[in-house]
Amino acid sequence: MEKSELLRCDQDHLIHPLHNRQQHENGHVWVKGEGAELIDVDGKRYLDVLAGLWNVVAGHGRTELSDAAARQMSELAYCSGYAGSSNRQAIELAQRLAGMTYPSINRFFFTSGGGEATDSSVKTARFYWKLQGKPNKTKVISRQWGYHGVTLAAMSATGISGYWPMFEPRVAGFSHISSPDSYRYTSSDNTPQGLAAANELEQAILREDPDSVAMFIAEPIQGAGGVLIPPDDYFPRIREICDHYDVLLVADEVITGFGRTGKMFALDHWGIEPDIIQFAKAITSGYFPFGGIGVNDTIAETLDSGQAVWMHAYTYSAHPVGCAVALRNLDIIENENFPQQAADKGAFLLQKLTAALSDHPHVGDVRGKGLMCAVEVVQDKTTREEFDPAEQVGQRLHAAAQRRGLFSRLRGDVFLIAPPVVISTEQINHLVEALTESIKEILG
Ligand SMILES: Cc1ncc(COP(=O)(O)O)c(C=O)c1O
Repeated sequence: MEKSELLRCDQDHLIHPLHNRQQHENGHVWVKGEGAELIDVDGKRYLDVLAGLWNVVAGHGRTELSDAAARQMSELAYCSGYAGSSNRQAIELAQRLAGMTYPSINRFFFTSGGGEATDSSVKTARFYWKLQGKPNKTKVISRQWGYHGVTLAAMSATGISGYWPMFEPRVAGFSHISSPDSYRYTSSDNTPQGLAAANELEQAILREDPDSVAMFIAEPIQGAGGVLIPPDDYFPRIREICDHYDVLLVADEVITGFGRTGKMFALDHWGIEPDIIQFAKAITSGYFPFGGIGVNDTIAETLDSGQAVWMHAYTYSAHPVGCAVALRNLDIIENENFPQQAADKGAFLLQKLTAALSDHPHVGDVRGKGLMCAVEVVQDKTTREEFDPAEQVGQRLHAAAQRRGLFSRLRGDVFLIAPPVVISTEQINHLVEALTESIKEILG
């Protein structure tokens, strides 16, 4: 089929994530990936600026990963992970993660992706508090602009309000505090920005009643919300508040896990540990749908206590093929030192973006940590006022970037940049040049 025919057929038969028929009229039909590039069915190459959806850290076309999948499929394509069944790859992966993640996290449950990981955290937190004799601790606090997936519970934790209206009512007991957006958050008194944003958690816990709050969930760096990097004093204060009020801290590391930010796991930037960690995406570099949660030793002991069965499960939990791909991918991440590569390449990228763009009258902010960066364009640089959505600046910038061979996503007028960790120096230079030209084309 020619591209036009494929797109017509797509329109007739597919429902897409965030389905919007118009966006697919001139969409891409990807047929191949090579390193940090994607190739459309019409033969045009694009730099995969968001590494798929933040996940393809090892880049496209890694035959080590396809070989690992093929080998596992021919040996044991599937077995259940339900109680009474296990598989060698799942056991090895859990053991490996215990050595890689935060020291207090040593027990893992596997899912098919990030949204299922969020649901698993919420249910585990509620289960835990029930067995601790605090059955009323069921509420979940998260943050505006946080993204945790779109199953009904995950959507209720997600703080990007555009996801809600057509699916209301949300699950009861979920509320949101401000995000510690270093560019936009302003403290109402003289409290430093990060502490003020963290103190909102304390106020929310007191407002809800500490005896009713089970957990606080946060991405160490908010991804889909626009690469929002918290001030350094934010997470240490969050940890203090969670400890003080007996609220579990859940780190959603679905994007930040496995090296992208320059550390293997991102709360290491601030020297704290979560009670539950969520991961997905980079664990298999997107070569197999996979995710999960890791819980600390106290929660694991409660699970093991035998007082109740944790009635939570997925058919594809601990899928042997996913585990085999994850294990091979973790070899790549460790052998090729992805955290260091992300730190070095990210610093270079940020320095080039800043030099090229920070003086532009409509570039409000250029930010990044490791290979998780963003460029935010604004109507007024002094007041930080956003463009009128009717001007469709983001959409026009997306189109201009694509004409220059860049494919990414935007959150409003924030251009998101999180390429595969294997991106080359020439590709980073091309990315910065093409994005700079695109911004000049749209905004002068
Ligand atoms: C931080 C975070 N959590 C959860 C999810 C949801 O993952 P999935 O789309 O695999 O359900 C995402 C997806 O982008 C994410 O970025």
